[in-house]
Amino acid sequence: MRQIIVHGKIYPLTTPIPPRRGLEMAKQTIIDDGAVVIEQGIIEAIGPTNQILAEFGHQPTLVDAKGSIVIPGFVDCHTHLPFAGWRADEYRQRLMGRTYQDLGKLGGIARSSQQFHESPDEDIVAFCESLIHEMLFNGTTTIEMKSGYGLSVAGELRQLRLIQELRHRVEQRTVSTGLFLHTPPPNLPKDRWLIKVLDELLPQAHQLQWIDAVDAFVESTAFSVHEVGEFLREAQKLNLNIRVHSDQFSHLGGTAMALNLRARGIDHLDHIHSHDLAPFEASPSVAVLLPGATYSMGHKPHPPARKMIDHNIAIAIASDFNPGTSPISSMPLIISMAVHFFGLSPEEALSASTINAAYVLGVDHEVGSLEVGKRADVLILDTDTLDSIPYRAGHNPVRQLFVHGRLVTINPSS
Ligand code: NIG
Ligand code: FE
Repeated sequence: MRQIIVHGKIYPLTTPIPPRRGLEMAKQTIIDDGAVVIEQGIIEAIGPTNQILAEFGHQPTLVDAKGSIVIPGFVDCHTHLPFAGWRADEYRQRLMGRTYQDLGKLGGIARSSQQFHESPDEDIVAFCESLIHEMLFNGTTTIEMKSGYGLSVAGELRQLRLIQELRHRVEQRTVSTGLFLHTPPPNLPKDRWLIKVLDELLPQAHQLQWIDAVDAFVESTAFSVHEVGEFLREAQKLNLNIRVHSDQFSHLGGTAMALNLRARGIDHLDHIHSHDLAPFEASPSVAVLLPGATYSMGHKPHPPARKMIDHNIAIAIASDFNPGTSPISSMPLIISMAVHFFGLSPEEALSASTINAAYVLGVDHEVGSLEVGKRADVLILDTDTLDSIPYRAGHNPVRQLFVHGRLVTINPSS
């Protein structure tokens, strides 16, 4: 059954060759009184309301978006779902002066790994399904999920299997990443783990078709530039997209290595060195900024987003949703943080959270903009100005949304 959104102020985010780089991120073409035609979960047409109605006739299923902004669903290109539980007590300890690294021995990634191993599959799936549902209500229609809390071959494969299970249960488009170098497993030397990853985990995960990409964490408490480089080169041979957590707590050279390997996304970058900006400009990699983690960890400095834009770098933003460094899943709030703390304009933040994030996940041909043939993931907001998203921090601006063509009403009164 055909559905038509009419009279919206549409931001289509159409981009001939994604990602949008530098100043392109701010350029938004708006259809002032626009319509989107949705058929079988796909966008069939988009244009001015009068033209669309002339072509498609007045259907009984018109959705009136008068007074509303209409944008593509948000693409959250960096989360640590699935996880088994929260770590609010560590947050409390940090408020009292302990550091994340310092808590790493008692808490951190190893603690989430322990929770993961102690929880039955059905508990983890039920817990994450409700979180992913909450994300849908806040406008996230594409989600990356990753492993990284398994910390053994069997554990990582179990986490990837749960991603597959969640993928079938939720309505969002999902992408699965193998974060096989997150932190060294307990009781195993790093070099032995690297061998297991290369000889067993990576080939098995790939053969099962459980990963679309791989990721690794370059940090003194995690893995070296050399170790991560070896892993990423192996993954590249399998034609997997590569991602890196780099420059989150310190600058170790991970960004230069990832640029050399033409990683799709280089994530965090709070401590990027200015000498990495020029090579970034010349590379196809996207800078994935994670303001929820910067905020939660109280980091100074922030990633130099304005300098990145001056260098014509493509930026994406994402939640980094995880129980340790970013227990925040709302993309409207992430946009607000990116604007307030990193200095993106609302228009730039919109490009960063839709089409550029879709490019990072390698799904920009399917989602990230409102174009004919793409998945009908469309948000109808309760405001006629984009500025309201960052301005009303903490408010969910989504009034109604379409996820793969299904209409969901979030807040009928707004
Ligand atoms: O992106 N940096 C490493 N990994 C996560 C944190 C994971 C955790 O603390 O559980 C991050 O910040
Ligand atoms: Fe992360």
